[in-house]
Amino acid sequence: MTKYLLYCLLLLGCMACNNRSEVPSSHTHLLPSQFFNIDTRTDTVLKTTKGASIYIKAGAINTTTGHTVALEVKEAYTIADIVRAGLYTRSNGQPLSSGGMIYIAPINKLDAAVVKPIGVKLPAPFITKGMQLFKGEYTKDSSINWTDPQDLVPDEETALLSAGQTIFQQNCSPCHAIDKRLTGPALLHTTARHSFQWLEDYIVNNAAVMARGDCYANQLFEEYNKVAMTLYPGLKGAPMHELLAYIENESKRIDLAGYERAGHAVDSCAAYLRVLKKLQHQKDSLLLDNGKSVTVQNRDTLPLENGPGFKVRPAESVTYNSYYNFEINTFGWFNIDLLLDGKPEYVKSMLTVRITGTITENTKVFMVIPQDKVYLFGVLHEANNNEYYFLTPDGQIPLPQRRKAYVIAADESEDALLFGTTVFETSLSQQVNVTLAPSDKDAFNRFTQQLEGTGFSLKAVDTKNAKDIRGLDSLLNAAAALKPVGVDCGCGGDTARWPDTPAPAPGK
Ligand code: HEC
Repeated sequence: MTKYLLYCLLLLGCMACNNRSEVPSSHTHLLPSQFFNIDTRTDTVLKTTKGASIYIKAGAINTTTGHTVALEVKEAYTIADIVRAGLYTRSNGQPLSSGGMIYIAPINKLDAAVVKPIGVKLPAPFITKGMQLFKGEYTKDSSINWTDPQDLVPDEETALLSAGQTIFQQNCSPCHAIDKRLTGPALLHTTARHSFQWLEDYIVNNAAVMARGDCYANQLFEEYNKVAMTLYPGLKGAPMHELLAYIENESKRIDLAGYERAGHAVDSCAAYLRVLKKLQHQKDSLLLDNGKSVTVQNRDTLPLENGPGFKVRPAESVTYNSYYNFEINTFGWFNIDLLLDGKPEYVKSMLTVRITGTITENTKVFMVIPQDKVYLFGVLHEANNNEYYFLTPDGQIPLPQRRKAYVIAADESEDALLFGTTVFETSLSQQVNVTLAPSDKDAFNRFTQQLEGTGFSLKAVDTKNAKDIRGLDSLLNAAAALKPVGVDCGCGGDTARWPDTPAPAPGK
């Protein structure tokens, strides 16, 4: 009898651990599908709604019945899509950082097979060196495991970036790093803050730019204790494009949100200074004419309603101008990925999650790092019954440092839904607490919507009062509201020197 009881308990225990370590399933049906009818006898290029291109050569798809095949395509390039579809970024248990995922498969001719490689270009906000193509395999718990990594097809863009990297290392790295100040300033986001022309002039001959009276260049020279930067006449033209493409790509890779912000700050400063200049001109002529009526600037031409401050641009509307190039030899899910383990940027760290609230066998814990497109599920610690880990039970996991990250806990039973999320910044060792609290089924959707705009958290300056503005002085006051918060528009608002001498980047 005792023996029987023990057996029972063991069995129960085992069932519990099976349940608890069960991989949460993917729900790719939540991603919208696009359908394309292909004539397999002709060359076809498909353009997807989110900007991917699929190159299908004549005869690349073989089917025994007829010549038309209907293809279904699904795309997940943003972290919000990845989370929504439950597309965990892991390869045989190891964490990955994704560059984007795509699904291509026939819906009518199930015998259709890829007999010649199909070329795919996947849009990305920036290129990460060392990304590989992983094939998605459905596991028995209907989640996707990414396997069989292959190198990407070498292309012009990667060639451009590595040429730029070589130029940077040979010429600039003695004095500059992208992300920290050395002898010269950090070059992070410099391409968002200056025009190509200004940068080319400056890098080729910074002394000439200062000599032409450029206020920003002169201020910078003072700030850096009059250390003269080398002249690079040889970098004019093609090498400059390579060099600046590299600096731009690195900046976005290190801090995509900051890149957008720096660009918006320049736009906002330009808008602010433009309005200021116009108004001051009107005021000047008003004073000159002393009383003669002046047409008050049509408010519609002022960017007051939608222009001021930093605009919050939804991630979806950002058009990416970088691409990952690869070829596929079969249908299904594909993922452009980097294994976190062993990459210098991903530091050996400790991360565990502690849940406040009742944990059941349905409790699921997830972690999201938007910038690196990392989406992992947690495993309940066998000994510590309210603690979850993501890779090994001791909590070790390679992580990028100082990144905004989220932990999510959810529990769903037939009559109740519990949900909780905590935002944190990744560091070497930490325990993140999440509280499971009663919630509704929209909570998860609201959370993913919030992820959508992750990088773009700055709020626009409130200008609701702008409608009531009368007269030039109040317009001038209103113009002050256009001035971006926390940004020095540079050089005393000297519009003559704008926008080639824009503001320094807002503090990171
Ligand atoms: C000898 C050291 C030195 C070298 C080498 C050097 N720089 Fe500089 N750079 C500086 C210093 C110092 C400044 C700040 C202005 C000053 O004091 O001249 C600067 C400023 C800049 C700026 C303006 C930064 C901004 O965004 O406001 C850019 C852009 C720049 N450098 C790019 C480059 C590039 C690209 C190279 C390589 C082709 C390079 N520099 C090589 C020292 C150097």
